[in-house]
Amino acid sequence: MPHTTLAEKFRTMDYGAAPEDPAQALAWLDQFKGRFGHFIGGAWTAPAEGRYFETCDPSTGEKIADIAQGSGSDVDAAVKAARAALPRWQSLTPHARARFLYALARQVQKHSRRLSVLETIDNGKPIRESRDIDIPLVARHFYYHAGWPQLLEQEFPGYQACGVVGQIIPWNFPLLMLAWKIAPALAAANTVVLKPAEFTPLTALAFAELCNEVGLPPGVVNIVTGDGSTGEALVVHPDVDKIAFTGSTEVGRAIRRATADSHKKLSLELGGKSPFVVFEDADLDSAVEGLVDGIWLNQGQVCCAGSRLLMQESIAVPITKKLQARMAALRVGSPLDKTTDIGAIVARVQLERIEALVAQGVADGASCWQPDVPIPSRGLYYRPTLFTNVHPTSVVAQQEIFGPVLAAMTFRTPAEAVELANNTAYGLAASVWSESVNVALQVSARIKAGVVWVNSTNMFDAACGFGGYRESGFGREGGREGMREYLQPTWFRKAPLLRRGAAQGRDPTRVSAPAIDRTVKLYIGGKQVRPDSGYSIECRSRKGVLLGEVPLGNRKDIRNAVEAARRAEQWSSAGAHSRAQVLYYLAENLSQRGKEIVARLAAVVGKRQASEELRLSVERLFTYAGWADKYEGVVHSPPFRNIAVAMNEALGTAGVICPEEAPLLGFLSMVLPLVVAGNCVIAVPSAAYPLIAGDLYQVFETSDVPGGVINMVTGRPAELMKVLADHDDVDTLWCYGDEELCATAKRLSAGNLKQVWTNEGRRIDFFHERYGAGRWYLDHACQVKNIWVPYGE
Ligand code: NAI
Repeated sequence: MPHTTLAEKFRTMDYGAAPEDPAQALAWLDQFKGRFGHFIGGAWTAPAEGRYFETCDPSTGEKIADIAQGSGSDVDAAVKAARAALPRWQSLTPHARARFLYALARQVQKHSRRLSVLETIDNGKPIRESRDIDIPLVARHFYYHAGWPQLLEQEFPGYQACGVVGQIIPWNFPLLMLAWKIAPALAAANTVVLKPAEFTPLTALAFAELCNEVGLPPGVVNIVTGDGSTGEALVVHPDVDKIAFTGSTEVGRAIRRATADSHKKLSLELGGKSPFVVFEDADLDSAVEGLVDGIWLNQGQVCCAGSRLLMQESIAVPITKKLQARMAALRVGSPLDKTTDIGAIVARVQLERIEALVAQGVADGASCWQPDVPIPSRGLYYRPTLFTNVHPTSVVAQQEIFGPVLAAMTFRTPAEAVELANNTAYGLAASVWSESVNVALQVSARIKAGVVWVNSTNMFDAACGFGGYRESGFGREGGREGMREYLQPTWFRKAPLLRRGAAQGRDPTRVSAPAIDRTVKLYIGGKQVRPDSGYSIECRSRKGVLLGEVPLGNRKDIRNAVEAARRAEQWSSAGAHSRAQVLYYLAENLSQRGKEIVARLAAVVGKRQASEELRLSVERLFTYAGWADKYEGVVHSPPFRNIAVAMNEALGTAGVICPEEAPLLGFLSMVLPLVVAGNCVIAVPSAAYPLIAGDLYQVFETSDVPGGVINMVTGRPAELMKVLADHDDVDTLWCYGDEELCATAKRLSAGNLKQVWTNEGRRIDFFHERYGAGRWYLDHACQVKNIWVPYGE
């Protein structure tokens, strides 16, 4: 017999089978006799139309159970139950609500194994993941949020719950996504109707049972199962106050449009094509392990999967070799086997989507490599796949594949790495590997993504917000910013509606040749410029006296202004102190020119209001100069050897449709929070008195406001708003106007999914600091980016 050393044995030893016994989970399913209704008002309810669909085990193709297909009337019944439960739920003490969340966390832990097995058989993910990642994070989410109810009064004074919340979740982390949705909603005293994904409804139904076990009042949590049509019914239901969605960008867009005409608050967590950036000084073995987690966790069906490997050219060969060796050691197989690395793909349609995209990659000329690892003959499996020689604009580099497929590209310098990383419509996550803290942090700050992991990947914690930039959606889940999504200022919900047609301006039908009395210009890139149209519109006093003319801005002027704003984006890296200085200087100069400005403004708004506007404008400049270096991020200490730095980052380029009724104060109340947060603005001044632009740019010019940071385009607000809403390089749109204008802004923004913030057609009293300034505005002017930094050996 040949002599075998211990070391050789280690290398050649194979794994034995380590199957998880699903008996207890199957026994639980048996209690329901293989058929589930909806969970409405605390009771199991048969679907109104009597229709069911099958949920199957993707690793075998076998049916697990029949699930109710929700119709419009089922959704309606669930929304009614949630509405009816609201007063009782909200009349509980915060402590009582905290105890319910705490009890749910405990109950999840007590039944963690059953939940893990259910998740694995319904979704196909390895039991190691559902047991060690999904379910512990679910419990952590409920524990974390059990802490919020008693803190709300102090941490969010003047805020209240949205009301009835509709939540739609995907199939990749079924129970975890439920926890991310339900925990903050309940902590903020909302009631919920949740629709799980059609491929993976089981753990949501198991969770419904836990709600009853802890005695949660009936109707506080309702679960309606079904497909996209059920989700759609929930989205358009008139008695839902907020929609929270996680899923594809395409459906996210449809939901943006479908909710535009309502006052529903909206948060979207959508797809991604996240970069995994490896520099030549990185610890390559760790980076390769990171990649295994980054792209092969959950078969790559992860919104934040590191699906684009960007490697510095000098290490491309060694890292590819190491990666291929590691891929060849990955075990693809039964998800219930504890030694499995890659389980089953959730559904045939998803497998076919992956196959089609990989075929497209090959057709586009990329090199496709798969290890020769065995895969089961039955069930939906896909081998780990590596694309090299990928063109940055090709389909596999741009489109979310949502499967175990990695597309590798190279870069030379850190600047090139950032450019490649940002060469995507998405902005969900990124992973950056370098032993140089300077390089890692600088690159992390420059990548447009909601979460960046330094020398690590896929780290999650309930205290750290998660969510995207750009087409990855908006809003955050987890942390303080996640709570914000389920709360609204009480005064705002009660503010009266503006009369229709307000803020769209008196129809400036009388278009005349330029210049009679006082003519102002557009203000773009720090320069006074003439409008492309060559037309001007009149501005008249209350009594109809012609006060002067302003340019009739058009699409081209807005485009120029957007370009100027983008060129000025250095503003976001100007220090907070410098930004504050500019605002103080503005206050000084505005105050100096005050008399003449008031005299002119008085012709439109009256002397009293004009003086008040000026006085409060100077005050507001001081307010935001004060906020400049105080609206800061936080450092989280998640339960790993990490810190997570949560930074308030500027959104980028902001379009602003200013209120008509307070031409000076309204302008500054909208523009200043954006500017102080580091955004560059294209503002459309008040339609009642657009001449204010002339006064303002003279003040800007004498106050060191860098060119392009504040641009002004006068004209017809409703028309210019459409151009801004439509423009892909505008990152956020703040639109003040009547309900119709606000709805149009939301509807048109679906293209690049820019964040739209409106007054919902309500009147905001800018003359009171409490309503017209502060954190509420700044919260909308920023997005939180979490940079996770490990420490220790
Ligand atoms: P999907 O976006 O269609 O489904 C997600 C959820 O939305 C499910 O509960 C579904 O029933 C519901 N839904 C579908 N249409 C709806 C509508 N019109 N109104 C309201 N709700 C609706 O995602 P799908 O088709 O399962 O997967 C397609 C692709 O989407 C994947 O290949 C992947 O690229 C991406 N995706 C991204 C996810 C993420 O976490 N970012 C999660 C799931 C899918």
